Amino acid sequence: RPGSRLRDLAASRDLLFGYAALQGFYERPDGALYADIAAEEFNFVTTENSLKWDLLNPLPGKYRWAQADNLIQLAKVSRQAVHGHTLVWYTQLPGWIKRSELADRETHMREFIDRVLTRYADDVPIWDVVNEALEADGTLRHSTWYEAMGGDFIDIAFRQARLSAPDATLLYNDYDVSFAGPKSDGLIALMTSLKDAGTPVDGVGFQMHLDADFDRFDEVAATFQKMADLDLDIYITELDVSIRNGMTEAQQAVVYEEVLSLCLEQARCKAYQIWGFTDMYSWRDEFNPLIFDRRYQTKPAYAALQRRL
Ligand code: XIL
Repeated sequence: RPGSRLRDLAASRDLLFGYAALQGFYERPDGALYADIAAEEFNFVTTENSLKWDLLNPLPGKYRWAQADNLIQLAKVSRQAVHGHTLVWYTQLPGWIKRSELADRETHMREFIDRVLTRYADDVPIWDVVNEALEADGTLRHSTWYEAMGGDFIDIAFRQARLSAPDATLLYNDYDVSFAGPKSDGLIALMTSLKDAGTPVDGVGFQMHLDADFDRFDEVAATFQKMADLDLDIYITELDVSIRNGMTEAQQAVVYEEVLSLCLEQARCKAYQIWGFTDMYSWRDEFNPLIFDRRYQTKPAYAALQRRL
């Protein structure tokens, strides 16, 4: 049925509907099929790994742009907006950064942000500037960046990003922050203090790696509203729903649909993005967490999204 593709239904609701693209999918035997479905179903795409520091800048002064360039070019052909993931993170860092002098790290961080944003600012309007700065207890993680700059690294990173890409939407992205608990409290405290300090942060990315028995939707709605009250946009950035012991595809479909409802019901929610689309390629592939199966057939979750959109 023309017009019933998820991307068209989402567009008519002004929603960015995305997936994370497997690095180098176009080189795989099933690459053409993967590309066709991705282009048909999604109007938004992020890079699962292709913009991470270890891949992009493995050695000092050496940048390998090809993977990211290819993905961005393909997105253009498919009329998909691109979401850049991720500039400042504690992991998937090259050895030379992890071993660098503490006194040099701010310079390295600023330089990386500037190189990447200068290259892609025209093609990539939305960026995860800082990823996963919080620990489970809501305090800041003692990362490579924290070690060198303390908590200030977050403000420094956002200010550098605004300078290098003045028109871009800048996000703080994290997991296990959508439902109530110490980490969600930590997120609210962090975003409040960034806003008070005038840090140029535009929104929050909620990863939402969930399980099929997840049912804390009221808590998620409340967290979303707290972000909206702080004048922040909401992006669902890495949704996947793992089917663990005894859970079913029907339960999985409910979670996909409920999260979509939360986004549609919250005016500040701009995007609903899934961390892949086929169970063939997922970082949690043993739990079949996505909306197409390994043979690229739609699952109940697909039909649920289609209906809800
Ligand atoms: C994951 C990728 O999916 C894997 O392919 C890679 O090996 C490790 O990273 N939070 C994030 C993502 O922000 O970048 C992670 O992606 C999943 C958790």
